[in-house]
Amino acid sequence: MNRFAIALISALLLISGETGAQERITNYIPSAKPERIVLNINGDPAATMAVTWRTDTTVTESLAQIIFNLPTVFPADSASTVKGSWQDVTADGVTARFHSVIFTGLRPATTYAYRVGSGSGASEWFTFKTAEAGNDPFTFLWLGDSQGPISLYARVIRHAYRTTPDAAFVLYTGDLVDGGSSAKLQDDEWGDWHRAAGFIFSEVPVVATPGNHEFYDPQVRQKRDLNRFWRPGFTLPGNGPAGLEETAYSFDYQGVRFIIVSSDEMLRSEDLARSQAAWVEGLLKDNPCRWTVMAFHHPFFSTSARRDNKVVRESLKPLVDKYGVDLVLTGHDHTYARGMTLPEGVIGKGNQAGTVYVVSVSGSKMYQQDADQWWESGLINTQLWQTISVDGNRLTYRAYDASGAVADQFMLTKKKDGRNRIGVPPVNKK
Ligand SMILES: [Fe+2]
Ligand SMILES: [Fe+2]
Repeated sequence: MNRFAIALISALLLISGETGAQERITNYIPSAKPERIVLNINGDPAATMAVTWRTDTTVTESLAQIIFNLPTVFPADSASTVKGSWQDVTADGVTARFHSVIFTGLRPATTYAYRVGSGSGASEWFTFKTAEAGNDPFTFLWLGDSQGPISLYARVIRHAYRTTPDAAFVLYTGDLVDGGSSAKLQDDEWGDWHRAAGFIFSEVPVVATPGNHEFYDPQVRQKRDLNRFWRPGFTLPGNGPAGLEETAYSFDYQGVRFIIVSSDEMLRSEDLARSQAAWVEGLLKDNPCRWTVMAFHHPFFSTSARRDNKVVRESLKPLVDKYGVDLVLTGHDHTYARGMTLPEGVIGKGNQAGTVYVVSVSGSKMYQQDADQWWESGLINTQLWQTISVDGNRLTYRAYDASGAVADQFMLTKKKDGRNRIGVPPVNKK
């Protein structure tokens, strides 16, 4: 081989990246200006709110300011300053600094204005509203796997927000990102995920649990570490089992107990399956709320004949049955399916409801449905978002397709004995 041929082959190897010698650099280079500003539920939502954002490493303090959302122009120094902490993530060719502040001692049902950073490096002012102290009606948004390209997913989160801008929070049931594929760096994926939402997550808190794709390593797909951007990039509750901080946790929101389970960690470790089941049982046994919603990634019942999340089902379904969980929200199967099982030992008649299970998807990656049909309502090749509203003894659920049309809906009415009736919600009622 002559020298020209060797030089040509070397150049081609470099371009294709096969040498591995050159680290690719993220499309999203951080600067001193705050970005990826995301609110998270963290503790009592009537009194606390967490915010996370990133900058480059020239910013050496994690400061945020907060004030009642006054109707008038207000000077920045009239706001309270809250100090937080930061951690650096070096990945994909850059070091980014992720800052985290938790606002505490807030008043219930109150709209606050806040900004992150300080001086000329501060963000604009955003607003959010704390939860009511009582069990007032509220609506939250739920999205299944957004995983994959922003191209078709972005319209879903934007349309969801446009229809329900006053949502208490937006819940994601895992596979928010793909985990770094050959085409995308992990940081690019998170950059895209935040870009799709624009300012939405700076005003509507995110509640999220990881899916299996948040545990993929881009270099070694079988290696199972939590996506390096998860804990730095969010400030989610740490009140679940030890070691599962920000992946398994719970909170109560205006009369609804939310239990967020990390099902991928349940599938990979008997210890983490046991510890999560014991923790879930404690939350169900001693539950002051009228309604209970559980959310995790892997469904008890798959829509695919090749998939069976036995450990998740065997660990949690007996508890769901025993304590009458109202709603179980999942993803992973990249289709839409909604079905129901009745409480064990009870024969369903008429409109008697048991636990309602739903699988949904918001991104554009799609699978077929070829399992034995357990669902009453199913859709393929359809991107969706859901609104779930709770008002006293009524829970109203609607799934919307990417055109904004209602794709599925039901209403649960809680009877005095704690059991639910299922029916169709009245038109134009949340
Ligand atoms: Fe998944
Ligand atoms: Fe997925």
